[in-house]
Amino acid sequence: MKQVVKVLIPTEDIRRKTDEIAEQINNDFGDEKIILLGILKGSVFFMTDLAKRLKMPVEMCFMDVSSYYDDAESSGDVKINLDLDISIKNKNVLIVEDIIDTGRTLHMLMERLSLRGPASIKLAALLNKPTKREFDITLDYMGFEIPNKFVVGYGLDYAQRYRNLPYIGVLNFIDE
Ligand code: IMP
Ligand code: MG
Repeated sequence: MKQVVKVLIPTEDIRRKTDEIAEQINNDFGDEKIILLGILKGSVFFMTDLAKRLKMPVEMCFMDVSSYYDDAESSGDVKINLDLDISIKNKNVLIVEDIIDTGRTLHMLMERLSLRGPASIKLAALLNKPTKREFDITLDYMGFEIPNKFVVGYGLDYAQRYRNLPYIGVLNFIDE
């Protein structure tokens, strides 16, 4: 099967949207210090481009998590592969994520993080795929709503490939 990537969101549109989101965050937080918490690895390009546009004091950190679902208990949790090296107690946390699909990962992660006593937790996601949502997620800052297609590029991967594309594209598989 051949893999073909078709441009869905060009680089220039991502740049413009990132400007808009940064302006909203600058307006909402003013001079208040925030902790940008990027979820590895998909959020890396969005996080760094966003951070460069923010005017308040910003601390940058990362977590790597994966979600799992326990059928027996009809519940799930996140596995924390890489945890924060700082305390978020009484701090403003802005989670930066590449894409929200079912919402499971973010739902579980936010439950875990709220136990650590932050002053606030907000969420910025570049992409939103609302059609498969299973968990209620409040997206404070959102880039683009996209259809239920598998997308790659600008951080997003398929089997660790395509993250370095400067645009977001739909990945298609075609018979040769
Ligand atoms: P959720 O827990 O179902 O919301 O899954 C979100 C995670 O699945 C994202 O952080 C991505 O890592 C991955 N994901 C979901 N949709 C896509 C896609 O279209 N392309 C690449 N990764 C995706
Ligand atoms: Mg992810």
